Amino acid sequence: MRTLIIALLSLGSFALAAEEKVPVDSTTGMKIAPDWEIVRNHCIVCHSSQTFLRQRATEANWTSTLEWMQKYGGLWKLDPAIQKTIIKYLTTNYGPGDAQNYRRAPVPATLMPMNPYATDARLEVEAKKKEGLIPTSAPTTN
Ligand code: HEC
Repeated sequence: MRTLIIALLSLGSFALAAEEKVPVDSTTGMKIAPDWEIVRNHCIVCHSSQTFLRQRATEANWTSTLEWMQKYGGLWKLDPAIQKTIIKYLTTNYGPGDAQNYRRAPVPATLMPMNPYATDARLEVEAKKKEGLIPTSAPTTN
């Protein structure tokens, strides 16, 4: 029995040691690694941190994700040094790693079933854009 208790206690301290190695912010779930606050301040304005914490990507993929968001998601143009810092944090802490979390390529549209909801939504968006109810370009900061 005593051996079991000692074994369990030492297992617990191993788990603790592993957690201490990469502390995680309890609010965002982000790894508290260099520059994490810069990333937090820029990247949870519009959506949850889980949007990017659940992904693993190479530097090139993180870069294209950010550029995609600047083009279509309303993410403002970042100061080049800040952008570099954000991509470095993401690549270092959420790099390709294990294949399980790595984002797969999208299924080609020709292999997807018809999605009536997406079609209706698209028509609605186009109509609203024509009416001027949805901006067709991102707001500029200057
Ligand atoms: C101005 C708003 C805004 C900011 C700021 C923003 N995003 Fe996004 N992001 C979006 C929108 C809009 C989407 C698309 C959400 C959807 O389709 O569900 C998105 C989606 C994503 C996705 C998911 C892409 C996918 O593959 O589905 C990731 C990853 C992401 N953002 C990362 C980031 C990171 C990293 C930052 C910080 C540099 C950031 N976002 C800052 C608006 C923003």
